This record gives sequence, C-alpha cells and structure tokens, in this order.
Amino acid sequence: MCGIVGFTGSANAVPKIVKGLKVLEYRGYDSVGLAAQLNGEIKTLKCKGRVDALRDKLEQEHFPATDCAIGHTRWATHGGPSDINAHPHSTDTLALVHNGIIENYRELKAQLLEKGVKFVSETDSEVAAWVITEEYKAQKDPIKAIYSSLKKLSGSYAFEILFKDRPGEIFAVRQGSPLILATGVDGGYIASDMTALLPFTDTFCFLREGALAHVTKDSVQIVKEDGTLEEPVWQKTDMTVEAAEKCGYPHFMLKEIHEQPNAFLKTVSPRIKNGLPDFSGDGVSDDLLRRAKKIYIVACGSAMHAGLCGKYLIEHWAKIPVTVEIASEFRYNDPLIDSDTLMIIVSQSGETADSLAALRYGKEHGAFTMGIINVVGSSIAREADATLYTYAGPEIAVATTKGYCVQVAAFMLIAAKLSALCGTLSENEVRTLCSELCRDVPKAIEETFSLHDEIKEIAKKLYQSENLFYIGRGIDYALGVEGSLKLKEISYIHSEAYAAGELKHGTISLITEGTPVIAVATSARLYDKTVSNIRECSSRGANVLFICYNDAHQPENVADTVLRLPKVGRHAEMLAAMTAMQLIAYEVAVLRGCDIDRPRNLAKSVTVE
Ligand code: AGP
Repeated sequence: MCGIVGFTGSANAVPKIVKGLKVLEYRGYDSVGLAAQLNGEIKTLKCKGRVDALRDKLEQEHFPATDCAIGHTRWATHGGPSDINAHPHSTDTLALVHNGIIENYRELKAQLLEKGVKFVSETDSEVAAWVITEEYKAQKDPIKAIYSSLKKLSGSYAFEILFKDRPGEIFAVRQGSPLILATGVDGGYIASDMTALLPFTDTFCFLREGALAHVTKDSVQIVKEDGTLEEPVWQKTDMTVEAAEKCGYPHFMLKEIHEQPNAFLKTVSPRIKNGLPDFSGDGVSDDLLRRAKKIYIVACGSAMHAGLCGKYLIEHWAKIPVTVEIASEFRYNDPLIDSDTLMIIVSQSGETADSLAALRYGKEHGAFTMGIINVVGSSIAREADATLYTYAGPEIAVATTKGYCVQVAAFMLIAAKLSALCGTLSENEVRTLCSELCRDVPKAIEETFSLHDEIKEIAKKLYQSENLFYIGRGIDYALGVEGSLKLKEISYIHSEAYAAGELKHGTISLITEGTPVIAVATSARLYDKTVSNIRECSSRGANVLFICYNDAHQPENVADTVLRLPKVGRHAEMLAAMTAMQLIAYEVAVLRGCDIDRPRNLAKSVTVE
C-alpha cells in the first residue's frame, strides 16, 4: 500500500529513486512522484500513472542530478488518482511522502484552514505535511517538530520528509507502516520495503514502531524524542536482486508459480528433525502448543483461504477445533479468547493492517499468538509471540501464489505437529506423513507444470466468460475459494466458489446453458458426492471442467473437460490442484490482455483498515 524510497549520499539520487520505485510499484501504482534537494530548494515532479510515466517526465524536463531525494508510488485512499493527489506533498517548508492513513485529518484540516493554509490536494497526507510545517516553524528543530506533530496525528504512517533548509538530510518516522533503513557505499537509504534497496546494498535495519530516523550521506541514525540516539540493529540479508526480478518469465506471477516446489521445501524441510516436525527454532515450544484447546486462524484474502485449508488439516489430523476469521471482522465478532487459545495470524507481507489489529486484540485478551509470515522483520512477525517464517522469498505479483503455497505448507506442519502432541496420530504415522510431504508435494506441483499446454487450451474455452463457478467439498471447497479469487483479481471475470452441495440451495438458479463450472475433487473420499453435484450442474446446461485426482473413476463420463492431476502420493493433490487453478487464472488473464502482475485497484500489501 504505497511504496516509498529515499536516498542521500555521494551519487545522483534520481536514478536510485526511480529504480527503487519500479521495484515497489506492486505496493500501489496509480500515481508516482519524487522530490529532490536542489540548491536550497526542493524540486518536485509527480504525475498520475506508473513509474514509467515519471521516468518519461524526468527525461523530458531534463531533471537535474541531486544527491538527496525521496519518491513515492501511490495506492489511492483519500483523494482519487491524479497529478495533484500524487506524492510528494509540499509546503513552503518541506516535502513529504506518506504511506498509511491519517484518520483525524478532517479536524486537523479544518484547524489549518482557519489559520489560512491553502490546500492543493484532497489527501490526508498534505494535512500531515502542514501539521509538521507549523510545528517546524514554531520549534525550528526538525526532530522536535516531527515528534510533536505525531502527538496530533492519529492513524498509520511511514513518512519521509525533506526540509528546504536541511540539504542532504532525510527525516523519516513510522507508526503502523514499515520502514527499512540501509547503508551503502555511497550513502544512506530508507524505503518501505527491503526489495527496493536490494540493488544497492545487503545491510538493513528494520525501523521500530514509533521511531524516527535521520539519514545523511555519512550516517543513518535513530533519534529518540529526548534527542538521544538509539543504536540501529543492522542485519545482512541473503536475498538477491534476482529474487525481485522476472528472470526471463513474462510475468512475476508465472515465475512465482514456478518457485512453489522450492519454496514449499524451504519452508518444510528445516522444520523436520529426526523425522518429526520441530518448531524449537521458531520459539514455539511443545508446551505452548499442548495448551491449545481451541485455535483461531485470522487473516485476509488468500492468507485467510490458506487458513481454511489449515482448519481442515488441523481438525482432520489433530482433532482440535479451529475457527477461521476474516481479520477485518475479528475484533467486532466478540471472539471467545482465553489463555488456552492459540491464535494464528497468517500474512505474506506481515503488514496487513486488519491482521495486525486482530493480532493486537488477541494479545490484549490473553491468547498465545503465532504468525505465519513471509516478510522477515515485518510488523506482525515482530509483535506476535512467535513466528513461523515461510521461506518463499520476495513475492512481487499482487496475486499471491507461492505465498499461499507456503502458508498451506506451514499448516501441514502445524497440523502434523499438533497431531503428534495430542496423540491423534502415532509417532510413526507423523513420521510417514512428514516424509511424504517433503517427497510428494514439490513433485506434484512440478508435474502439474507439465499440464500447462492442456491448461492453455482450457483457458481458450473460459476467457470470454462473464461468470464462472468453482465447486468442491471439504478441502476442495477451500481450494475453490482461492482458485476463484485468483481468477477474479487478475482476469476480472466474476466468479464464486461454493461448497458443491450448497449450490442447490439457491445459486443453482444462475446455472444456464453454457455456464462454466470448475469442479475440484482431489481425493476419493468425497468424489461420488462431488460427481452428483456436477451432474446437477450439467443437467442444467453447465459446461464443467473437472480437476480431479489421478485415479478418479471415469470423470470423462461426468464433465465436458477433465484435468487429471499428476499421480503422486496422498496430501500432495491439494497443492497440485491449486497450481492448476493458478495457471488457469493466469492463462485466462493473458488471453484477456490483463495487467497480470498489477491488477486494477489492488495493491500488494494492504496497510489500511
Ligand atoms: C491475494 O492474491 C491477494 N493479494 C490478497 O488477498 C492477500 O492475500 C491479502 O491482502 C492478505 O495479504 P497478506 O498475506 O500480505 O496479509
């Protein structure tokens, strides 16, 4: 949700900002801009559109070199996408970029209007710029001015600020939105995401909540409110620039789909010790898990869909009751939390505002909180009592694929671990399960790639549809919900997922001649029941694609098109089916000419509630 990047040092900042913004575009891409320190002035350039539009403008205007600049790529919240609402926002004193939302901006704006301030944009960010300006005029000290401004602002923010009379200095502060500090050979950097800085350095510091950073070409400091310094905690990353590049794939989404087998293994195998799941390296003791009498899984979007699979796996193997909640609803549903409640917060980015708020609510009410998080050092990872990191590497495509895959992987491990602790599976059964997961799941996903040509043909039949239904039972319903979201978000085809048996309670009235239905059956257990539901659809004219397990009994007699999943062991079919659905969504979106990695209206990390 908005990407920000800043550099000050001995090199030209402009190409660095543009490069960083290009990487950050997935965080928001409706307008873009930068502000640069130039001879005691701040020069700003911004426009509606994407980073390429800014790059063109910079060239057309022969934008001069500068050693200090900040940039922003926006996902609109307050004020639509436009040149004027694009960041940076400037006053007579400073320029500022902002990621987040200032919740009390209306009252603050009214007060500032009374004082005669003239606003040019509709944004909450411009209000913050003026609040800091007023404080700076009164206090003449940037650090004091920023800290006292923060007492007036409520909401979430990561700000980067240039003051006209402080050349070569960037001030930045965060509350609820991430900021990463970095040092390189040629100066200091600060950005909303580590990936923006990977081309320049491998040494980073996650700025803590509420902290203020002062970046100059010679130093990167964290300054406390009383003016004393806090030692930054520097960490090296082994993440490479290639991890954030397409490496020959036409889209990040396709690259990330292909990274799933490896991401699955990287997440699962280090946590299997002596053949059994072991979370001691993650700070999750067996005693803590043993205490879990009930489990809440809380997340948004695809992460919540991974949680639906988690519920199925945990209840099926470990027999512990699990409730899956949409994070934005959680706090308002009066959840029944006590000290025997394990709350699992699932988030690829670790920054999703609703999930973070739910985590804080759970902690306040005494739950033991555990994150399943991909981004190291992110807010949820830092605030949860423990975190199981998923090792998918950076996920750039807005539509998650490998991020979801590793979340399901984490749930497979958790379910196996809990069933060992609860004794619902014997130690030998858990051992077998673990070795099957490592052996079969990556192979099953890999072999699903060989169905890609078949899937391209399927996509040709689907891409002109206006509506589409996904049906399945049990875990296949959970998979269908995610398959449907993938299709919707990147191809803009309306689709719904239904528990196969539920369709006849109303929605079947929408099935008419030619309505496409994708039915999923990944195991024999519910196959016959699903087949009956398919027949209900086909007898009303539906055109059914049946994604089924390899040994399924005569699916060709039931559906118009059959996609048989590879023949690999049990438990592997679900991620094979998901891979097939990801590829279907991808190929449909390709045929429709959609912007696959940056679908309209979306952003990768949703840091507003
Ligand atoms: C899925 O493709 C979406 N990008 C979205 O639903 C996403 O899963 C959701 O916003 C949660 O994000 P998180 O995992 O970063 O918390």
